[in-house]
Amino acid sequence: MISVSVPRGRIRYPIRVAPGILSRAGDVMLGIRASGKVLVVTDRTVARLYGARFLASLRRAGFTPHAIALPTGERTKTLASVRRLCERWARWRVDRSVPVLALGGGVVSDIAGFAAAAYARGLDWVVFPTTLLAQADAGIGGKVGVNLPLGKNLLGAFHHPRGVFCDPEVLRTLSPRAFRSGLAEIVKIGVIRRPALLASLRRLARRGALAAPVTSLIRAAAREKAWYVSRDPEDRGIRQHLNFGHTVGHALEASYDYKRFTHGEAVSIGMVAASRLSVRVAGLDPTAALGIEDLLRLLGLPVRLNRLPGAAFWSALQKDKKRGRTRLRMVLSPAIGAANTYELHSLTPLREVITSLVQRP
Ligand SMILES: NC(=O)c1ccc[n+]([C@@H]2O[C@H](COP(=O)([O-])OP(=O)(O)OC[C@H]3O[C@@H](n4cnc5c(N)ncnc54)[C@H](O)[C@@H]3O)[C@@H](O)[C@H]2O)c1
Ligand SMILES: [Zn+2]
Repeated sequence: MISVSVPRGRIRYPIRVAPGILSRAGDVMLGIRASGKVLVVTDRTVARLYGARFLASLRRAGFTPHAIALPTGERTKTLASVRRLCERWARWRVDRSVPVLALGGGVVSDIAGFAAAAYARGLDWVVFPTTLLAQADAGIGGKVGVNLPLGKNLLGAFHHPRGVFCDPEVLRTLSPRAFRSGLAEIVKIGVIRRPALLASLRRLARRGALAAPVTSLIRAAAREKAWYVSRDPEDRGIRQHLNFGHTVGHALEASYDYKRFTHGEAVSIGMVAASRLSVRVAGLDPTAALGIEDLLRLLGLPVRLNRLPGAAFWSALQKDKKRGRTRLRMVLSPAIGAANTYELHSLTPLREVITSLVQRP
């Protein structure tokens, strides 16, 4: 049993990774509350693939679902989407007794969770993550929010769900690109805390056996994510280690207007940058840094840039909310399985590392 459990706090919820659980969503929900009205938020792709069976299961258990399917993709992660959800809920006369069910990837859970946090000052919510990235990472931990043009996740809140229910079977329909994107977050957890995950990924990839449903990998990654969240539910300390690769990753996403890279792809390049910087600043063994890069390449993730990022990248980097007051703070790894936050007194080493990532023609 995996759970987020904050000692002496009020936060406690289960994370279940169980094949077929999406078709039993109604029974799962009955374990959380009595039947009644529920609000389902999904995206159009997931609605087409899994909406009918999800809603049918809820209805069988006596729930009355009201569903909204948002357009698919990162560019939907805006305040306009949150407003659209909340206005619709207001029209439906939703009060605080009605829970929100997020059915989808990280984009859906970030938006739905934020709307749930804000509407009527907080509705309960439950996550049914449907991408590898969301099952291993994004669906867990209550960080919710949307992007602003100037920066990724700049508008957000902490709003922990009542439960996270992952069905690895649904990953079979994920595009290879979205699947690889999720692998990037698992690599991250391997680098900062659990090297055995890196070994598993390498072994599976070499055997050509890295394909959905990868249930045990999801469980292993979710357990580590829950470990961080349980110790630091509001991201004030050790949970920030999960930002490894994200300072550069988020700036890449934002500077390309959320069009060019998926989140996991941007994080992959961000992790190569962070590893190289770790060698220079944190004493990481250069061979270990190369090992991270080789694994990402083996997984089919990008590890290079086509050209030097422009001013938009540097300004997004400075605006990243993880920046300290005057200096850039970055999570680096002094050794595989460990991480720490470092203050960079100058941007020069980072500039040099970014330059080193530009592919030679
Ligand atoms: N809140 C957090 O702690 C946290 C952590 C990591 C990432 N994130 C956020 O998560 C987002 C990325 O999440 P994502 O990669 O899941 O993106 P996503 O939600 O956009 O999903 C990727 C694509 O897969 C499709 N899809 C979803 N489930 C499917 C299925 N079972 N079969 C077929 N297609 C399916 C979606 O429609 C979409 O096109 C980013 O916005 C990132 O910032 C949040
Ligand atoms: Zn991430």
